[in-house]
Amino acid sequence: MPDISTRLSQLRRELEEHNRRYYDEAAPAISDAEYDALFREVQALEAAHPELITPDSPTRRVGGKATAGFKTVRHAVPMLSLDNLFAKDGAEALQKWIASVEKLLPGEPLEWLVEPKIDGLAINLRYEDGLFTTGATRGDGETGDDITDNLRTIRSIPLRLRGPDVPAVLEVRGEVYLPVAGFRRIVEEMIAAGEEPFANARNTAAGTLKQLDPATVAKRPLEIVLYGLGEVSIAPPPTQVAMLGWLAALGLRTPKFTRLCATAAEVMAAINELDAIRDSFGFETDGAVIKLNSLEQRERAGFTSRAPRWAKAWKYVAEKAETRLRAITVQVGRTGVLTPVAELEPVLLRGSTISRATLHNEDEIRRKDIRIGDTVIIEKAGEVIPAVVSVVLEKRPPEAPPFDFLTHLGGKCPACGGAIRRDPNFVAWVCENVNCPAQLTRRLEYFAKRGALEIDGLGESVADALVERGLVRDPLDLFDLQLEQLAPLNLGTEDEPRTFGEKNARKVLDGIQRAREQPLARWLHALAIPEVGENTAHDLAKFHDSLEAVRDSALLRDVVELDRLHAAAEEANPRARRHKDLSDLDRQQRATQHAELLAAANAAGRRLLDAGFAKPAKGKGATDADAVFVAGPVAARAALAWFASDTGRAVLARLHTLGLSPKGGSAAGGQQLAGQTFVLTGTLETMSRNEAAEKIRALGGNVSASVSRKTHCVVAGPGAGSKLDEARAFGITVLDEPQFVALLGA
Ligand code: IVH
Repeated sequence: MPDISTRLSQLRRELEEHNRRYYDEAAPAISDAEYDALFREVQALEAAHPELITPDSPTRRVGGKATAGFKTVRHAVPMLSLDNLFAKDGAEALQKWIASVEKLLPGEPLEWLVEPKIDGLAINLRYEDGLFTTGATRGDGETGDDITDNLRTIRSIPLRLRGPDVPAVLEVRGEVYLPVAGFRRIVEEMIAAGEEPFANARNTAAGTLKQLDPATVAKRPLEIVLYGLGEVSIAPPPTQVAMLGWLAALGLRTPKFTRLCATAAEVMAAINELDAIRDSFGFETDGAVIKLNSLEQRERAGFTSRAPRWAKAWKYVAEKAETRLRAITVQVGRTGVLTPVAELEPVLLRGSTISRATLHNEDEIRRKDIRIGDTVIIEKAGEVIPAVVSVVLEKRPPEAPPFDFLTHLGGKCPACGGAIRRDPNFVAWVCENVNCPAQLTRRLEYFAKRGALEIDGLGESVADALVERGLVRDPLDLFDLQLEQLAPLNLGTEDEPRTFGEKNARKVLDGIQRAREQPLARWLHALAIPEVGENTAHDLAKFHDSLEAVRDSALLRDVVELDRLHAAAEEANPRARRHKDLSDLDRQQRATQHAELLAAANAAGRRLLDAGFAKPAKGKGATDADAVFVAGPVAARAALAWFASDTGRAVLARLHTLGLSPKGGSAAGGQQLAGQTFVLTGTLETMSRNEAAEKIRALGGNVSASVSRKTHCVVAGPGAGSKLDEARAFGITVLDEPQFVALLGA
């Protein structure tokens, strides 16, 4: 198939080029829709010809299997950190350092490059013969986590380097970060969902890269900038400036702002220039990095035990402002959690006017002794939501009483006047009224948000109005809404009415209509089942094809049972310290009981492993019972409990009445086998091998004729021969036909 293969490589090159233009040059040459069309063409060609799939295909970016943990990688060249210079120590600290390097390289002209210090996560990308092979975190500098699959989802990381002169080995280093806009969106969604948002973009990026499921990573708009080298098989360019140019020519993204300087004064000016404009970058920076430009001079300047002598990080001061705390309001979240918010006299902080800041919870307020009327210091250090860091005690009004949460609220929920309680194990106060309109509004927003049922147009104000008018008492009431009820909704006040209007109402109704067809994963997410977040929802949907199947799940029951057996076995363990005084007879009995419990736990573990619902545990002496689950015991127990509860039963009954039956797995045309390679061997009884291959491809999987280390799974029917032996030799999962059918149906 030479023409198809040529067409594919051409399409792949085009897509990579469009990625580069989009992310690197911010100058897309085609529309998103055109990009999607090219992408779909590649997908279609690859589905028809799985043998033509290459590791650098853009379709390999998403998908991949969630793993139980990361492998570690030893860095060929250690990844060091930088020593800091602090803005508060002034230009003298900078001059002193530069003078110290001049002393190491006496009489030589020195050049310095100033770059932004990107507030992200340091990573190493390894390219072999131009192909992206491994990506790892810095870790302890010597070894890091292998997060290749997660990094593959980042579209500004080319999977193949450009140009004719690609070295055999090239390791590049840089920073993965979450752009401010992407972070804002995530925070808004979390707030709308009544969740405690991530503190800053860096934590969000870090948390994302540590995700074991690349599909989740793919949903976060991470980006990368590269500024350094690890192992390289050829002599690299002689300076940082030339090196950045070379990396850019290979298709890698490098810092846009750089200033080449000859003196300490020029370096200081560049640092100040950067500080003045860094807010416009669209990503967080927490400083500047100053590096000796010449790589050869760097070598001679050398390293201390932990950091190079030839580079420093200049840390800008965290931005603070002083203002007055006018009031403390309390927000009610989706689950009834009451969050205190500081209402501030508006003040300018790093270019934006701040009038609200989070106070986190009662303990936080008490610890900082924050009182209404206080003059407070607010800080924004990478955080989108500023926080109150301290109180200026000298400016406290003499009459300001200590803040008491319960008294402040008069013992009632500020939204519904219902009872509130504080769980002693939990920092937050909670409104106990399940019909609290504020909670209902949050639940409604959660139900409709992106990633859940995506009902466009149903934001906070519409949710508020629907709840207030009594049109919606439960998210499922949305499915009974009529245009005549929605269109005249007043989103304003009585004095200043603002009608929702027919056009907007139709948009929401269309969204509700589409929600009917949304797959099981989104429904499981939208229903806000305790402990079942977006990831778990997606995982559960891969293994179950309906809500009823989750309710009756043998897999979830096995997870709970396994956990119980584990605890019981631990309790019975005759070797446990607390049993040291047992009689021999008792010891004997306990030993038998312990062995039986362990055997039962192992059997449950094995069932889960066979179903692919667990990954084998790693480490010495691990047994099947130590398997790592797709959904762990906490989530499994909570999910089963919810389905058995009055709420869960009412929801299922209502969905039934509404004629709604969200479908998961194959029924939803899911891609749960994306990126997995199957080998079929022997005779299948319920279908031909061709049909089996079709089904695998329909779920995004690949079918290969031969077994290799890259094979994920071998399906073996009667008469299977050498391929089965090879699979065993490689330790590859082998499924029999009923297990395979179950996997397809899951
Ligand atoms: S150069 C030998 N350049 O800051 C280490 N680092 O505080 C060379 N960082 O670990 C690092 N932007 O994660 C360098 N333009 C930049 C950077 C940068 C951010 C990070 C990097 C490093 C940390 C040191």
